[in-house]
Amino acid sequence: MEIGKIYNENCLITMGKMPNEYVDFVITSPPYDDIRNYNGYKFEFEKIAKELFRITKQGGVVVWVVGDATIDGSETGTSFRQALYFKEIGFKLHDTMIYYKNNPMPQTGNRYHQHFEYMFALSKGSPKTFNPITEPTKYQGLANMKNRGQNGSLDYEKVERTTEKKVGNVFFYSVGGGISTKDKIAYSHPAIFPEKLVIDQIKTWTNENDLVYDPFMGSGTTAKVAQILNRKWIGSEISKEYVEIANTRLKEYTLNNLFILK
Ligand SMILES: C[S@@+](CC[C@H](N)C(=O)[O-])C[C@H]1O[C@@H](n2cnc3c(N)ncnc32)[C@H](O)[C@@H]1O
Repeated sequence: MEIGKIYNENCLITMGKMPNEYVDFVITSPPYDDIRNYNGYKFEFEKIAKELFRITKQGGVVVWVVGDATIDGSETGTSFRQALYFKEIGFKLHDTMIYYKNNPMPQTGNRYHQHFEYMFALSKGSPKTFNPITEPTKYQGLANMKNRGQNGSLDYEKVERTTEKKVGNVFFYSVGGGISTKDKIAYSHPAIFPEKLVIDQIKTWTNENDLVYDPFMGSGTTAKVAQILNRKWIGSEISKEYVEIANTRLKEYTLNNLFILK
């Protein structure tokens, strides 16, 4: 396999060339529920899921970002079906995380605005890497008993402490033109990841030099982020047009090892 390459082919073909237990981490967003037709390409979910299980290393993680279309007045539930299928074939449903869009497309009708997609973290065994994102937590507490007060009461010193705690599993991102990425060319693709989402997930589940794979590479977001974060990467993308967009986008990040997030 060639590292640092987007294979312009069905991901089943790319995965077919990979040995068992090859990649450390997968992050991807499949074309779901025919919401967009991506030039007419279809994908075979069950075969792809099984191949993902085969090529993922023990302890590796697949982050599957997906939502449901509403068809005939009902959400399809495809996301749940897929998550349960991944379990059936051996993955653990390690964490059902939420990708919350701060500014979704407004919707009319008798439903609330659709603000989120699922990010199913599926692991092969227990995840071998977990570098949690943390946030400061500030609390005031009573600590360090100073002395016994005159009336015998215990006298504590009031302290303010700052520590770090793991963030929750709802991840908030602003999306859209100029926000998901600064790379204008990426918007020639209709459904790109916000870069920050990929940064957070790659940092969480991998270490430097790990191998990251995206079977539906689209505009190349996973490749760009992996490159910048010093992870190895491979991608598949069936559409020639999108591979060209991704390669053009990636040029400035892969040339001269310019690891700078724009
Ligand atoms: C939701 S988009 C991925 C967007 C990507 N996450 C990004 O940030 O640009 C899904 C992509 O999968 C591609 N695709 C569909 N079926 C495929 C297949 N069987 N193998 C590889 N790519 C496929 C589509 O052309 C589309 O670009």
